[in-house]
Amino acid sequence: MNLLEFNDNPRLRRAIAQIENPKKIKVLFVCLGNICRSPAAEGLMRQSVIENGSEGRWEIDSAGTGNYHIGQLPDPRMRAHARRRGLELDHHCRQVSESDFDDFDLIIAMDSSNYANLRRIAPTPEAQEKILQMAEFFDSVTPCDHVPDPYYDGADGFELVLDLLTAATRNLRDTVEANSLA
Ligand code: 4NP
Repeated sequence: MNLLEFNDNPRLRRAIAQIENPKKIKVLFVCLGNICRSPAAEGLMRQSVIENGSEGRWEIDSAGTGNYHIGQLPDPRMRAHARRRGLELDHHCRQVSESDFDDFDLIIAMDSSNYANLRRIAPTPEAQEKILQMAEFFDSVTPCDHVPDPYYDGADGFELVLDLLTAATRNLRDTVEANSLA
C-alpha cells in the first residue's frame, strides 16, 4: 500500500473521510464463520495498534455473515497458529447485524462473497460506503486478491491468512491514521 494506491482509491478515501470521530476509529472485520479469518484480523489489528502506541484511537471487533458458530471461540487450528506468533485469540463468535452499520465506521470484508453479503445487509447507501475489502490493504506485491478461507485447508492455509492479515492490518492502521484528523 502506498500513497499512489490510496489516491487511486476513491472508495477508500470516501470511507476514511466519513469516520465519525477520528479520535475513536471503530473497525469491524467480517468473514463467513467468524472463527478463522476475522477473529485473526481483529487480534492482529489490536496487536498492531498496541505496537504503534495508538490503541486508544481504535475500537476493534469482528463478526460473521453466517450463524453456524455463534458463541464459540475461534477454530482451534487458527488459535494454535496465532499462538505460535504470540497472539491469543479469545473472541466469541457473533453474527453481523444491521446495527453494526451504526456502531462502526469501517466494515472490512475478507473476500468478495463476504463483501456482497454485507452490501445486501447494509440498511442505507451511506452504510454501504463503510464496507471495504481487506485486499485493498495488501502490500502491492501480494499474489492474492482476497483472504482465502482456510477452513477446509491444511496448516499452510492458516499461515497464509496470518501473513496476509499481518501486512494488511498494519497498512490499514497506517493509512487510516495518516489520513484522518486526530
Ligand atoms: P471463516 O472460516 O469464515 O474464516 O471463519 C469459516 C469457518 C467456518 C465455516 C466456513 C468458513 N463453516 O462453514 O462452518
